[in-house]
Amino acid sequence: MAKITLKINGQEVQVEEGATILEAANQAGVYIPTLCYHPYLPLEEACRICVVEDVRRGWSTLVAACVFPARQGMVIETDSEKVQESRKTILELLLSDHPNECMTCQATGQCELQDLAYRYRVQPDVYTGERHRLPVDSDPNPFLHIDMNKCVLCRRCIRACHEIQGADIWTKVGRGFEQRISTAFELPLEDAGCEFCGHCADFCPVDAIGFRSGRYEVRSWETRKGTTVCLQCPMGCGVTYEVHNGKVVTAHGHFASPANGGALCKRGRFNYNFVNTPERLQGAMVQNDAGELESVPVDQALDTAAARLRDLADQNGGPSVAVLAGDMLTNEEYYLLQKLARGALQTHNVDSVAGPWQLPLYEGLATSLGLGAMTNPLSDIARAKSLLVLGSNTLEKHAIAAIRARKAVREGAVMIVAHPDQVALTKNAERHLAIQPGSESALVCGFLKVVLEEKLYDEGFVEANTQDFDKLQRSLEKISLAGVAEKTGLSEDALRDAVRLYASRKPACLIYGADRAGDPADETFYRMCVALQALLGSVGVPGGGVMAMGVAGNGQGAVQFGACPKYLPGFRPATQAASRKVASNLWGVEVPGEPGLSWPDMFEAIDKGQIKALYLVGLDPFGLGLPERKVESALAKLQLLIVQDTAKTRAADFAHVVLPGAAYMEKEGTAVNCERRFQRLSPVMAPPGQARADFDLINGLLRRLHENLAPAGPAAAFAEAAQLVKELGPASYETVDGLCWPIGESGTGTERLLLQGSDKPIKFYAARL
Ligand code: SF4
Ligand code: SF4
Ligand code: SF4
Ligand code: FES
Repeated sequence: MAKITLKINGQEVQVEEGATILEAANQAGVYIPTLCYHPYLPLEEACRICVVEDVRRGWSTLVAACVFPARQGMVIETDSEKVQESRKTILELLLSDHPNECMTCQATGQCELQDLAYRYRVQPDVYTGERHRLPVDSDPNPFLHIDMNKCVLCRRCIRACHEIQGADIWTKVGRGFEQRISTAFELPLEDAGCEFCGHCADFCPVDAIGFRSGRYEVRSWETRKGTTVCLQCPMGCGVTYEVHNGKVVTAHGHFASPANGGALCKRGRFNYNFVNTPERLQGAMVQNDAGELESVPVDQALDTAAARLRDLADQNGGPSVAVLAGDMLTNEEYYLLQKLARGALQTHNVDSVAGPWQLPLYEGLATSLGLGAMTNPLSDIARAKSLLVLGSNTLEKHAIAAIRARKAVREGAVMIVAHPDQVALTKNAERHLAIQPGSESALVCGFLKVVLEEKLYDEGFVEANTQDFDKLQRSLEKISLAGVAEKTGLSEDALRDAVRLYASRKPACLIYGADRAGDPADETFYRMCVALQALLGSVGVPGGGVMAMGVAGNGQGAVQFGACPKYLPGFRPATQAASRKVASNLWGVEVPGEPGLSWPDMFEAIDKGQIKALYLVGLDPFGLGLPERKVESALAKLQLLIVQDTAKTRAADFAHVVLPGAAYMEKEGTAVNCERRFQRLSPVMAPPGQARADFDLINGLLRRLHENLAPAGPAAAFAEAAQLVKELGPASYETVDGLCWPIGESGTGTERLLLQGSDKPIKFYAARL
C-alpha cells in the first residue's frame, strides 16, 4: 500500500494511505485523547474530544482525529491553544450535565471522563442549567447497574451490542437535551431481549452501564488483573479477571485473544462464583474408621490415596481401577492422568466427561478429511455467505460461533437454524427448521440427498478433491426423502427449499455444536457433514468448512493428550502394539494391552464389581446425566473413591479420600479450543487454603506410585507429551501459545485446513439415515 508523509507536532510521520490521524499519531507516540473511539468498535464521530488542528498552508481547521484520514503533507498540531480550548469546552459541557459523584462512583479510577477532566483541569460548574434526573438502578436485572445520568452519549454501548453481540438492545432516543440511550420502548433489559453478554458495560467509558459485582465493596485500584483462558466451553475465550481478596470480582473479554477478540458469553462473563463460593475445599479429608471424613494434611491424604490405589491394583489387576476427569483440566493434567492410569496403574480405564462426544468427532473428521477437528478458525464464520447451524442452542453453549454467525448474516449471508426449539439464533435466521430432537444426522443425510438429486454440487471441486463419490451416490439412492422427512419431522418441500437456499451461496459454513443434553453423534454424522461441505465446494476455503465444536471446555485436549481409553496421547490407538511401544519406551514402563473403558462403561463395570477404585478429578458424577440411583449405587460399591475437586460435591459423601483442587483461573498450563488453538493459561489468583492445582495433586500421586514417571512440572510434562503428540511439531510450552495444530516443521500453526497441493484428500463414505 502507498505511503504518505505528514507532520504531527513538528515530527515527520510516514503511514499507510488510509490511516486516520489518530493512527498516525499513535504510530508517532503522540497522545490524542478519545472518548467515543474504541479500537475494537466501528468509528463514530460522536464526541469530538479528539480534535486536532490542521495548520497546513496557514489554514486552521479542527478535525476529529479518530475518523479523519491522514493526508500527504498535512501539518497537524495536537495541543494548540485552539485544540485545548475546544476540548475543554466539550468537557465543560459534558460535566454541566453529569452527576460528578466521583467519590461514590464505581468507575472512579478507571473512568475515561474523570481522567480527561483531570488532564484538562475542567471545572464542573462552568455552565449551569437543567440537568437530567433519570432513575438510577431501576432496571431489575441481576448483572448490570444502569445510571444514564452519567452517560456521555458516546454510543459505544450501541456499537458493542450491535457489532459484537448482534443483539441491538440499546438505541438512541430523543433530540437535543432529551437525547439519551435507552432500550426500545424503554423496556427493562430482559424484556427487551438482552442476552447479558456484558459487552456494553465493558465498553462504557463511564459508569452509565456498569457491572453490579463488586459495587460498593471494592474500588478499581484495589483489584488485581490477570488474563487467562476460559474453560467453560470449547470456544476457549481469552478473559481478564479482576481479583480482590482471593475472589473474582469481574470478568472482561481479552481483546487480543484470536478465539474471541474481546467477546465473552453470559456464562464466561458472570459465572465465576464457583471460585468464590464459601463451599470451596480448602483442605484434604480421609475417611476414618468410623466412616467419617476427617481433615488431614494434603500430603497425608495423597499417601493414603496412593497406598490404597497400589493395593487394589496389585490385588485385582490394573483394570480394577478407573480414572475419570471433568472438562476444565489443562492438557498437562490430562496427560499426567493418563500416565498415572496407564503407566503407574496399568489400565486404559481413563476418560473425560467429553470423551463420548469428542471421539466420534475426531474419528469422523480424521477418516474423511485427514484432520480430526474443526477445519476453520471461529473468525471464519463471519465470512460465510450461507450458514447451516445444528446441534446445541448455539448462543448458550457455543456463543462465539453464534455471534460470528450473526455477523455473517448482517453482512448478507443466509442462515438456516435447525433446532427443535425456537432458540435465540432463529431470530436471525432465514429459515428455522424445527426438527425432531436428535434428528440432525437425518437432516444432513436429507441435505446430501437433495444436493445430489438436484445436481446442486460443485462438480469441479468434487472431481479435483474427493474420492469415492460413487459410494456416497449409491448409498443415497437407497435413501428416500420421505424417510428423511419422517425422521426430522419436516415436510419434503421444506427440506428441498432449505437445501436450495443453503446451496445458493458460497462459501457455505456448517456449524455443529455438540450438546451433552443429547446423545453423542456418531462418526457417520461427521462424515456426512464433510460430504455436504465438500459437495458444495466449501472445504478448505475461508468462510466455509465443517465447524464441529465439541461439547466441553478442554474436551479436545483431553482426547489429544490421552485421557481417553481408546487413544494414547497424539491419537495413537491404544490397541496398536506399535503405539504402546512408543509410549512404553518413553516412560520406561510397559503400557498394558487390555483395552480400557469409556465412562458409561465404567459405571456398568463398577456395578458388576469389576472396577473397585475410582479417581474423580474435577467432575461431579451426579451431573453426568446417568440415573441418580445408578450413580449412588455405583459409588457406594467402590472400595476406594478419591474425589478431587474445587468444592465438596455430592460424590464426596461417598469418598474415602477428598483432595482440594484448583479452578482453571488458578492454574498454569495449556489448553486446546475447538478451533485446534493451543493457549497458555496463567494463574490469576492462588487456590484457597491447602488447595493445589490438579497437576500438583495428580503428580503427587504419580510420584508416590512410581517416582520415575513424575515430570518436574507442567512445562516438563508438555515437553514429554510433545514426543507423542506429533501434531505439536517443534512447538514448545513457551512457543505454542496461539498456534493451531497441526504445527508444521517451521513452527507455524494451521488455522485453516488447506487443500492446495493435496491429492484428493477428502474421502466420501456411505450416507446413512
Ligand atoms: S448485555 Fe449484551 S445484549 Fe445486553 S444490552 Fe449489553 S451488549 Fe446488548
Ligand atoms: S451508556 Fe455508556 S457507552 Fe452508552 S452512550 Fe452512554 S456513556 Fe457511552
Ligand atoms: S464462549 Fe465459552 S469460553 Fe467463551 S466466555 Fe463463554 S463459556 Fe467461556
Ligand atoms: S474520539 Fe473522536 S470523535 Fe470521539
